[in-house]
Amino acid sequence: MAKIKTTFFCQNCGSQFSKWQGQCTSCKEWNTIAEEVIQKPEKSNWKTQSSTDIRISKPLKINEIDTSQEARLDILDNEFNRVLGGGMVKGSLTLLGGEPGIGKSTLLLQIALNINYKTLYVSGEESQRQIKMRAERINPSCESCYILTETKTQNIFKQIERLKPEIVIIDSIQTLHSDFIESSAGSISQIKECTTELIKFAKETATPVLLIGHITKDGHIAGPKILEHMVDTVLQFEGDRNHVFRVLRANKNRFGSTNELGIYEMQGSGLREVSNPSEILISEKDGELSGNAVAATLEGLRPLMIEVQALVSTAVYGTPQRSATGFNAKRLNMILAILEKRAGFRLGAKDVFLNITGGITVDDPAIDLAVVAAILSSNEDMALPSDFCFAAEVGLSGEIRPVQRVEQRILEAEKLGFKTIFISKYSKISIKNTSIVVQKVSKIEDIIHHLI
Ligand code: TYD
Ligand code: MG
Repeated sequence: MAKIKTTFFCQNCGSQFSKWQGQCTSCKEWNTIAEEVIQKPEKSNWKTQSSTDIRISKPLKINEIDTSQEARLDILDNEFNRVLGGGMVKGSLTLLGGEPGIGKSTLLLQIALNINYKTLYVSGEESQRQIKMRAERINPSCESCYILTETKTQNIFKQIERLKPEIVIIDSIQTLHSDFIESSAGSISQIKECTTELIKFAKETATPVLLIGHITKDGHIAGPKILEHMVDTVLQFEGDRNHVFRVLRANKNRFGSTNELGIYEMQGSGLREVSNPSEILISEKDGELSGNAVAATLEGLRPLMIEVQALVSTAVYGTPQRSATGFNAKRLNMILAILEKRAGFRLGAKDVFLNITGGITVDDPAIDLAVVAAILSSNEDMALPSDFCFAAEVGLSGEIRPVQRVEQRILEAEKLGFKTIFISKYSKISIKNTSIVVQKVSKIEDIIHHLI
């Protein structure tokens, strides 16, 4: 037996130290350093039996490399396929992170139940019966999904060798532990070791592995940052838990772009793919209400029509209140200052509340003009025509600035039945023969002139 070796790790950032100390010198957190035993025997291969099968890699000419291994598996979920860049690459490791209760287990179980490949879903968090109860609500008639409740990697690999699944799902990486390391499950060294074993397994057998990862209170994936470097793809599942929408985005993707976005709606029977999010984000109203304006925004590469609601009322207390949900509060203050200075609105003595419907957060600057329109509409208590929409940024001197991919926004607005879109005068567009009226404005005064 090798000599027991211990090292100290910061449980927050993963830095390694030779002795204990009260504060981590790297992330400055207190009391996060813990001793972990690293006791690594000669070999920690995922397949311990096969000592003969040692593969030594040789350099190859780039045009001799066979890319057929990069074939992708279609996982029959358009949103997930798109975020991955067109399906799951064989032998890839994908990490899915997100807040507790957001639906990570539901999403991956749903994929396991719907695809036609033989799938092994390993859970260290729930019992087989609990998973079965959930599965019954999602898709009760599935033949190719196997459930295993196990946390020891060596046992998992034994079952994998017997079952030979085509896809492996692990819920979650923080519950796994390997015999080669003695520290407890979820510690930095265990996470590193288990991920290394899974990577070896995935690459050698060309089996894609999906991992669920917990996140820390500040939103990062728990465990060492190196975990995100090791895997091929890092996905983030997010959304407001009180709202029904869930957004899946790629933070890192070795096989595709990180601009794509998947949108789901949580229902009683699992997650439903939302292929046209704009239709749901824009609320249906009986009459026209003041304070509403629609922005033609882009989330990643996808056009998204988003409704902005503003409420402007006389301040009851001395200091007026400004509050924004889903929109940067500093930017709201800036837009209010522009309206006050350039257009003479006395908003200094008014409370202003702003809300982006659907519980999503937007950082596309193209939403600015819709914010201006919603504020003006509420201030004047005058409804805007419901077939108007806006796509432009507002500059500090009250100029209306162009935004990227304006043609894509115009086409999306047209598709959804909008009749007029307001954009910057300086936007360059070459599309013709649209049924939508493209109204070009250059200053904040122009927009006031058009709307009031
Ligand atoms: P879960 O997938 O366990 O979240 P995570 O693994 O990210 O912690 O739970 C998702 C939540 O979704 C749970 O609180 C219950 C709810 N839910 C539904 O509304 N409908 C469903 O069909 C399922 C399975 C869950
Ligand atoms: Mg879960």
